[in-house]
Amino acid sequence: MEPETFAPTAPEGPNVARVYDYFLGGAHNFPADREAAARVIETWPQIRDTTRVNRLFLGEAVRFLAGEVGLRQFLDIGSGMPTMGNVHEVAQQVTPDACVAYVDHDPVAVAHSQILLASNPKALAVEADLARPEEILTHPEITGLLDLSQPVGLLLVAILHFFPDDTDPQRLVASLRDALPAGSYLVLTHATGDGQGRDVADAAEVYRRTTAPFQLRDRDQVTGFFDGTELVEPGVVLLPGWEDDRQRRATTAAGRLPVYAGVGRIR
Ligand SMILES: C[S@@+](CC[C@H](N)C(=O)[O-])C[C@H]1O[C@@H](n2cnc3c(N)ncnc32)[C@H](O)[C@@H]1O
Repeated sequence: MEPETFAPTAPEGPNVARVYDYFLGGAHNFPADREAAARVIETWPQIRDTTRVNRLFLGEAVRFLAGEVGLRQFLDIGSGMPTMGNVHEVAQQVTPDACVAYVDHDPVAVAHSQILLASNPKALAVEADLARPEEILTHPEITGLLDLSQPVGLLLVAILHFFPDDTDPQRLVASLRDALPAGSYLVLTHATGDGQGRDVADAAEVYRRTTAPFQLRDRDQVTGFFDGTELVEPGVVLLPGWEDDRQRRATTAAGRLPVYAGVGRIR
């Protein structure tokens, strides 16, 4: 489906959700997004594999939570475009009664999601900002679908690197975590420069200049987002390999992509 169906006038500048959609091979993007994406790809060709593997991890984590853990509700913040491997598709395949609330601050991503979800009574998409977690937690559509007094899968996948330290992302994550009951889970991925060449840092700089604020973080910093949770084996690891490592109960960090991933059980 062409994005023009939803937004008759092309937006002025590139946008994170649509640039990401382009990396994933989707059709929901405009020339400004493709130009910004091309600049990042030029600096760092691995970005496409990275976004796809990140998306695969998201699916694996949701399958684990819906299947092995038995979660029935998911809050996906920074959900992006309704592209391959949507959370509700994965979760409802495991358990048809799973409810999913998608949240993004990009109106185009939300409009696409709402169209896709129109016939699904157990999934919805709302426009809200992670910078104001209390608005997410009290949003009437979200609280109408999810019972936030019961365990929830909180998904913050490939979003926190858009929050520089001066926006205090630790506090934002903590306020969501503290509002959810024990037995909820936090699923998170985050871009890193650990073990990478200069190209990843250069790509982050291009991203910052052309698209949005962007901050790489190291393993300790990413692990810090899991404060107040018990990490599921294998802990915070570089992708790909979370699922394999989980099966083997062992971690190997060599030759991985510049994205940390982890799942933690909220205490
Ligand atoms: C890289 S995409 C990740 C999409 C999806 N979570 C995934 O991993 O496949 C990041 C998404 O976060 C959204 N985003 C960025 N800042 C946000 C904010 N402050 N509040 C809500 N969403 C935000 C962007 O619009 C974009 O859709």
